[in-house]
Amino acid sequence: MALRDLADGLHDVASIGLVLGKQMVADSLADVRDVEPGLPDELVERLHPRRVPGRVAEIIEETASTRTLRLVPVGEPFPPFRAGQFFALLCEVGGVRTSRAYSVSSPPTRSYLDITVRKMPSGFVSVYLCEEAAVGDVFELSGPGGSFYHEPMTDSRELVFLAGGSGVTPFMSMVRSFADLDAGPRVHLVYGSRTLDDVIFEDELAAMARTHESFRLDLVISEPPDEFSGCRGFLDAPMLSSLLDGAEGKTFFICGPHAMYGLCTGALEGLGVSPASVKKEASGPPPDITLVEGWPKKIKPSKKATVRIEGTRSSFEALCGEPLLNSLERNGVAVENLCRSGECGVCRSQLVSGEVFMPASVVLRKADVAFGYIHPCMSYPLGDITIRL
Ligand SMILES: Cc1cc2nc3c(=O)[nH]c(=O)nc-3n(C[C@H](O)[C@H](O)[C@H](O)COP(=O)(O)OP(=O)(O)OC[C@H]3O[C@@H](n4cnc5c(N)ncnc54)[C@H](O)[C@@H]3O)c2cc1C
Ligand code: FES
Repeated sequence: MALRDLADGLHDVASIGLVLGKQMVADSLADVRDVEPGLPDELVERLHPRRVPGRVAEIIEETASTRTLRLVPVGEPFPPFRAGQFFALLCEVGGVRTSRAYSVSSPPTRSYLDITVRKMPSGFVSVYLCEEAAVGDVFELSGPGGSFYHEPMTDSRELVFLAGGSGVTPFMSMVRSFADLDAGPRVHLVYGSRTLDDVIFEDELAAMARTHESFRLDLVISEPPDEFSGCRGFLDAPMLSSLLDGAEGKTFFICGPHAMYGLCTGALEGLGVSPASVKKEASGPPPDITLVEGWPKKIKPSKKATVRIEGTRSSFEALCGEPLLNSLERNGVAVENLCRSGECGVCRSQLVSGEVFMPASVVLRKADVAFGYIHPCMSYPLGDITIRL
């Protein structure tokens, strides 16, 4: 078998699911002969492409503020991904070339990719995608990213998904994928929303809960109508202890707005859940960086700092309260990025002089700290700085 056939085989593997995949990959690898020069690079590029185009084939209005863009491949099939992973969607908004991470809400078993976007009040890309994106538009996507997925080798067979708002999207991919393959662990989805109208995928989730004995759904509504008979409130300690039938032996997944992470993590600690049994999705920059622990209180977010790019004549003013990556993009400086949450390291750059604030959640290697590397997607200039890209 030539390596090119192996690449095709691996693509097929991805689309029919990873269950059959392991054996097929093992068989294929055992059969690889006569590697053509350059083909390993082609294989890697096909499985982990830097960019892949996707055309909007359909738009599904999910709620008043949320829509799903159904993307189909233009040419090559989409790269394989695992249910729960995200792609970065690249776009140009108001003359600014930028990108945002979106979890795939469709399962890997389909030939299309659904991304489900909630319009953020005073948002930038989300407003564009919800108000202006149209059928026929072509967007560039990154390859898949993130490790927020079910890992059968290490997770337990009982999963608890704690979702808030549009944070339900990676869970949707996972539960759809378990249902498509008619296999998988027991899943309890506890899904918090502000109002009943904000609940995304309500009918499909309710139908799945009726037809799949291994799937349980609990909606938690913080501002319900008077007649609502379900759970009222937030995903806090009393709510979780009342809904969960004990926590022992379960693996927990959390995805939602920033405020939810502290609430759920504290509640799970109280229930005796070890941090090793809790997976959290990356969540992007916080809505207000000045409220993050360690932010120097004397620095106003509206303060301006000069950013210089070493080796170029480029310099511009940036707001201290805005992620450096946004300011760079607004000033026409492109920096490769993926998660925009400080986790993947793709945007890694060097701080030559000056000081930035990075929340403790930013994942940096020891050597990076020693040599002044920063992740501009989650770095905030505290004064004038020079960076090397
Ligand atoms: C792993 C992951 C998965 C995610 N999955 C989903 C999902 O499934 N569904 C979903 O809805 N969201 C998801 N998100 C959140 C998503 O990535 C965006 O953060 C969200 O859509 C808000 O983006 P925004 O551009 O509208 O708002 P923001 O990025 O908060 O922008 C707000 C303001 O900042 C300014 N601004 C920001 N960037 C620029 C720029 N480059 N140039 C000029 N001005 C700028 C503008 O003034 C704008 O008004 C996910 C995030 C992560 C990290
Ligand atoms: S884009 Fe992932 S760390 Fe910056």
